[in-house]
Amino acid sequence: MLALPPGVRHIPGFLDRSAQEALVEDIRAVVRAAPLYVPTMPGSGKEMSVRMTNCGTLGWVTDRERGYRYQPTHPETGKPWPPIPEALLSIWRAVADYPLPPEACLVNFYGETAKMGLHQDRDEAEFAAPVVSISLGDACLFRIGGTTRAAPTVSFRLESGDLVVLGGESRLSFHGVDRIYPATSTLLKNGGRINLTMRRVTKPVA
Ligand code: SIN
Ligand code: FE2
Repeated sequence: MLALPPGVRHIPGFLDRSAQEALVEDIRAVVRAAPLYVPTMPGSGKEMSVRMTNCGTLGWVTDRERGYRYQPTHPETGKPWPPIPEALLSIWRAVADYPLPPEACLVNFYGETAKMGLHQDRDEAEFAAPVVSISLGDACLFRIGGTTRAAPTVSFRLESGDLVVLGGESRLSFHGVDRIYPATSTLLKNGGRINLTMRRVTKPVA
């Protein structure tokens, strides 16, 4: 594998099996309060293959009419997102090197055939904080490049319990998920992959 772009950290096996199991229980509770929904692309209304929900004071959502944005409530239930579980806040404190807690944790669920095209995380106002991403369940092929779409990319496998931190000069790197490797983990009873992405959205007030 080629070297990762500067600012990208991949920490394989950051969470052991019992920490992963506990986190899955936390996420099940989040999903009971804020059900997974089908996000749609701005303009075209095309359905994404990933199912999404959030926890935190803000959640990232997208739909045909209003596009990519953060909002404090679930688009279908209208209820506030549930809080970010303490285990996730503690991971952020351990790796983010940023003084304030995350405001949003996007929960992505990938079935066997789901994927995510190359994109930047840039709907936040605060880019000084990193994006902290946790993988649970089936492995995937993750792709990351530079800060332009045309920059060369490298791909590597993310396994259950792995952490990726996009910070510094890679905070705005293009990234995506090329494919899921079905049945490569026993963590989720019905298979699939969960990705949890924590972000700071607003700039701190001085
Ligand atoms: C994302 O970029 O929102 C998801 C990345 C991943 O699933 O690993
Ligand atoms: Fe992303």
